[in-house]
Order: sequence, then structure tokens, then C-alpha cells
Amino acid sequence: MNAITLKDITVLITGASSGIGRELARCFAMEKAHLIIASLPSEKKALEELAGDLRRQYAVQVQTLVEDLATLDGPEKLYRQAVATHPRIDVLVNNAGVMAFGLFHQLSMESQERIVAVNLRAYMLLMRMFLPDMIRRGTGHIFNVSSVSAFVPTPRHSVYGATKAFIQSLTEAVQEELKGTGVRTFTLNPGYTDTPLLRVPGFPQKLRFFSFGGKSSPAVIARKGVEAFKRGKRVYIPGIHLWFLFMVMNRFAPRRLINRVSELMVKEA
Ligand SMILES: NC(=O)c1ccc[n+]([C@@H]2O[C@H](COP(=O)([O-])OP(=O)(O)OC[C@H]3O[C@@H](n4cnc5c(N)ncnc54)[C@H](OP(=O)(O)O)[C@@H]3O)[C@@H](O)[C@H]2O)c1
Repeated sequence: MNAITLKDITVLITGASSGIGRELARCFAMEKAHLIIASLPSEKKALEELAGDLRRQYAVQVQTLVEDLATLDGPEKLYRQAVATHPRIDVLVNNAGVMAFGLFHQLSMESQERIVAVNLRAYMLLMRMFLPDMIRRGTGHIFNVSSVSAFVPTPRHSVYGATKAFIQSLTEAVQEELKGTGVRTFTLNPGYTDTPLLRVPGFPQKLRFFSFGGKSSPAVIARKGVEAFKRGKRVYIPGIHLWFLFMVMNRFAPRRLINRVSELMVKEA
């Protein structure tokens, strides 16, 4: 595995206004990468504040872009705006995400379509748009923020988990296609992390899963994620206990048992 140098490269991060995306922006800036940070139009002020802070603290260039990735043309508009000022983007960090918590047959179709649009369609289209430029240059990275939810069905946030499984499969398949091009992919697969994502209506404050799986800080997830990315990892689950659970036990336990335990774990403790 070749180590990756981040100094003076250009990194585009979606969903950078809060949570893991915001902390990833800080970690890349610490490594002296130049940034394009993106989020929803309603977050313009928060993004500008973050950009000013990163420029002052780390002396890097930071551009802000706002676009709603849930709209039909949102991903393409973001791509066009980004390459208009930065024809060379070295790392695409697909991070923007939404979730809804509840039973599949009761959650609104609108909220479920939004999850698919942001977590799946936008990731896929941005990858599809940036990859040809990267392949032409013979260098570049796709950094997809996935989840441990990619590896097991996730009752009560079933559409969310399904979008992560899609992205995991897509990223790993594309990685095989990219052999010899100089372009690589990486997935960061966190467990539950203390961000606004877990404060959606209905999400239990004390999930049973937290008692052994814990709830991470977004700063720790971002730091470990960027370290793993630099080391050239392809798939990275922060936390040895989560790695053991999702990469080892998950392979050997019967599927029905995994599904049953997944359902029990997302109940209020
Ligand atoms: N938190 C966890 O437990 C956890 C675990 C594993 C993986 N992840 C993944 O980590 C990523 C970041 O999530 P987070 O936990 O950091 O949550 P978060 O704090 O809510 O951040 C999500 C980001 O995405 C942005 N976003 C949402 N909808 C958007 C849209 N339509 N267009 C553009 N941007 C949009 C949000 O903007 P606003 O601030 O305006 O909403 C925010 O900046 C997601 O992909 C999530 O699935 C999270």
C-alpha cells in the first residue's frame, strides 16, 4: 500500500457544514490540503465561518459551494461549479447524508426518496462525473463515507442501511475496474457517531447498541479515517470491536441471527 501525501492537493467535501464532514475538513486542512467545502444553501453562513476558521488556522485555500444534492440536477450543478474554479480535484469526499428512523411502511415516501437521492444517487453521480477526469490525469481518489450499516440489514432505518450497502458494493466494484489507472477508492465505515444525523425524530436517545458498540465522536472518526486513507487502506471501520463484529462475526453467524440481533440492537435501552 502506498502512503498518500495530502499537502497542496485539492479536496472536495460534501456535507461539510456539520458532523463528520466538518471534522474531515479540519483534518484535511491540518494536512495542508486545499479545500472546497459544500453543503445545503441554508448552511452558507456556517460554511463561510468554517472556511474563515480553516484559512486562519492552517493557511490553506478554502472555497465554499452550496447546492441541494437531493434535487435532480444538484449533483451535476455541484460538479460544474467545482471544476469551473478547480479543474483538478484530487479527492472527492462523498459525505453528505440523511436518515429517517421508523418502520419502512410508515415513514413518508418523501423522506425515503430523499435518503436515496442524497446518500445514493448523489454519491453515484459525483463519482461518475469526477472519475473520467481523474483517470485522464492518472491520479485521484474517491473517499466515500459509508457506514457499518453497509454490512448488515438495519431495521428501523432500513432505507438508510440499504443506501450504504449500495455505495459499499459500488465503490468496491469500481475499485477493481480502476486497477492500473492510478485512481483509487476508499470507504470510511463508522459505527454510530454523535452528530445531528442521530437526532432525527424518533431516534432513541439510548440505543441498546450503544452499551457495547459505543457512540464515537465525529472528530475521532474523521482523524482515524484520514489516517487510514493516507495509509492507502481501501475499507476502514474505526474501532477494533466494530471491525470484529462487522468483518469477522458477521461472516460466520447465520443470516437470520444477524437480522434478529440488528433489530434488537436498535431499540431503546
Ligand atoms: N452519525 C452516524 O452515526 C454515522 C455513522 C456512519 C456513517 N455516517 C455517515 O456520515 C456522513 C455524515 O453524516 P453525519 O453523521 O456527520 O451527519 P450530519 O452532521 O447531519 O451531516 C450531514 C451533512 O450532509 C448535509 N446534507 C444533508 N442533506 C443534504 C443535501 N440534500 N444536499 C447537500 N448536503 C446535504 C448536511 O447539511 P445540513 O447540516 O444542512 O443538514 C450536513 O452537512 C453521512 O453519509 C452518514 O450516513 C454517520
